[in-house]
Amino acid sequence: MYRIGREETEAVARAILSRDFFKINGSGQEVYHFEEEWKKTVGADYALTMTSGFAALSSALIGMGIGPGDEVIVPAYTYIASALAVTAVGAIPVIADTDETLTLDPADAEKKISKHTKAIMPVHIQGFPSDMDAFGHLSEKYGVYILEDACQADGGMYRGKHLGTIGDAGAYSFNYFKVITAGEGGALVTNDRTIYERALIYHDAAAVAFFGNQLDGITEPLFGGTEFRVSDLTGAILREQLKRLPGLLADLRRNRAALEELTCGSGKAVRAPSHDVEGDCGTTLALRFETAEECRAYQKKCADGGLYSTVPIDTGKHVYTNWTQIMEKRGALNPLMDPFKMEANRGLNMNYSPDMCPRALDLLSRTLYIGIEPDWTEADIENIAAVMNG
Ligand SMILES: Cc1ncc(COP(=O)(O)O)c(C=O)c1O
Repeated sequence: MYRIGREETEAVARAILSRDFFKINGSGQEVYHFEEEWKKTVGADYALTMTSGFAALSSALIGMGIGPGDEVIVPAYTYIASALAVTAVGAIPVIADTDETLTLDPADAEKKISKHTKAIMPVHIQGFPSDMDAFGHLSEKYGVYILEDACQADGGMYRGKHLGTIGDAGAYSFNYFKVITAGEGGALVTNDRTIYERALIYHDAAAVAFFGNQLDGITEPLFGGTEFRVSDLTGAILREQLKRLPGLLADLRRNRAALEELTCGSGKAVRAPSHDVEGDCGTTLALRFETAEECRAYQKKCADGGLYSTVPIDTGKHVYTNWTQIMEKRGALNPLMDPFKMEANRGLNMNYSPDMCPRALDLLSRTLYIGIEPDWTEADIENIAAVMNG
């Protein structure tokens, strides 16, 4: 969480005091307003606010018609929720390696495409944009959907377009750790009417037919789904957070660039490559070292100077080797609902092994993250740079 305060408190208080904060027919219509504002911000035709990024990812997969018998390619480095969204709809996550930017490698993703592949899920991890041009080509060449996991990249850009709006659908998270937050929350965006209609039905299956006029103009037939609807309390917070987003991103990006300027370059550290360094959310300065030993030595130097940093191989559930449920193929409690045991998935690519994505493991071991704060002063940045350069 970066910035939150009186504006959010007052917005929530207003919603509570209205005593009328149900999303569909509450008087504040906060979630509907947020959806309009989010669509306008990122440039998408449709948006649905949900309880989480996971909810948005799985609803998007349902919207794409993905289920048992299908494979979805996910990167070796992402939060486990990306892969669990795939098993949640009965499909099989196929794990592909990362490129130098630590996002999904289009070349390895292409190698993993099979006749069962229905979608590729580039993840803009840490706000680093994935190679979206390459995924656009793969989508055209193989007729597969692109679902962008922009859960760590609210407001991020790739070549002038908002992350999450370049593929067929995109998912954002607004949990506590994200660029903007309502404590929990997420959103799906798409320009595809069918994906939108199915995701609408799926994410609000019980209420969609009974509350408000949600089915007006909907042509997809109703089907059973789940309940990922949020209340206007979430909508009220998110509308205030959204007002903060442009300033927040500008401050993060400015501070990241200033720190890079002082600490990277000849004789100094090396910034990890990026597919769009200006579009990157600016939450992290990623440094790349020749060896894991050099990386650890730099981290120790930072720690000795009081500067916290992270080597991403240490980040637990973001590294595929630690995705216990996936690696050990337990996709559901009930075996009949477990994608790894389903007849329809027999013969699909679920050959997971700890050494299957060596490049990701190597890069994750010799990359160092310095977390950026939007409220650093110039003096703060100079002090941090002095520790890094020391
Ligand atoms: C890359 C990525 N994908 C998906 C998710 C899931 O988001 P949520 O926690 O809102 O379900 C997260 C959340 O941490 C994430 O970082």
